[in-house]
Amino acid sequence: MTDISTTVTVRQATHSDAAPLIAVLVEAFLDGQVADWLVPEANDRRAVYRRYFELVLNHGLENGHVDTTADLSAVAIWYPRVEPPPKGSLEYQPALEEATGVYAARFALLDAVFEAFHPGEPHHYLAYVAVSPEQQGHGVGAAMLGHYHRQLDALGIPAYLEASNLRNRDLYVRLGYRAGPPLILPTAGPTIWRMWRGQPEAPAPAGFPASGPLSRRRSL
Ligand SMILES: CC(C)(COP(=O)(O)OP(=O)(O)OC[C@H]1O[C@@H](n2cnc3c(N)ncnc32)[C@H](O)[C@@H]1OP(=O)(O)O)[C@@H](O)C(=O)NCCC(=O)NCCS
Repeated sequence: MTDISTTVTVRQATHSDAAPLIAVLVEAFLDGQVADWLVPEANDRRAVYRRYFELVLNHGLENGHVDTTADLSAVAIWYPRVEPPPKGSLEYQPALEEATGVYAARFALLDAVFEAFHPGEPHHYLAYVAVSPEQQGHGVGAAMLGHYHRQLDALGIPAYLEASNLRNRDLYVRLGYRAGPPLILPTAGPTIWRMWRGQPEAPAPAGFPASGPLSRRRSL
């Protein structure tokens, strides 16, 4: 059997990849409990997500590290958090409101909850990962994340993410993360699992890394 991790070519994305990668993000995140909570009106969702993920991807390209695959069927947006992040840009809030319209309060609340519970220890933050729906379940996501994890492992840097459902949580556990106490989003929102991937060789610290001043503001 072919090991998919050797057949998936991962490279850093650039602005010229933006259009297909925004489409991957929109289609991959279109369904699910978080989408139902963020944009309850299904008829609005695709248009809102198109504007939102354009903002997200461009922010990642300019301020973080974006990986993709040779066929542009997958995208991962990482932010190094090895020192306190710069203050969030003043333009972000109006841009979010413009992109998400009447749903802006939910998007802002999601950001605020994630920010409040972000670990204080230095790490790289996986803000978004998506594989185009036709390609899901064939090992592409695991291969793309494995590519970045190997670089983190060589530098001894942990990783952190929020898992939006149990199936994703299982994937991340297989990739070396462990789950912290779940977050339940307000106003009858979905459950989110905070996940931490320490250095493979280091003994696991007791408990989950505490939230701290290193990350008072989300990168986005
Ligand atoms: C989560 C995601 C990036 C994983 O990439 P992938 O290439 O589909 O995953 P892989 O083939 O490498 O691994 C398969 C595992 O991923 C997880 N998974 C989560 N959602 C999945 C989906 N819709 N289809 C297939 N696998 C999925 C499962 O743990 C699965 O293992 P299982 O089939 O034994 O349950 C991708 O499925 C996706 O884009 N999902 C929608 C967006 C999303 O939820 N992003 C992550 C937010 S935390």
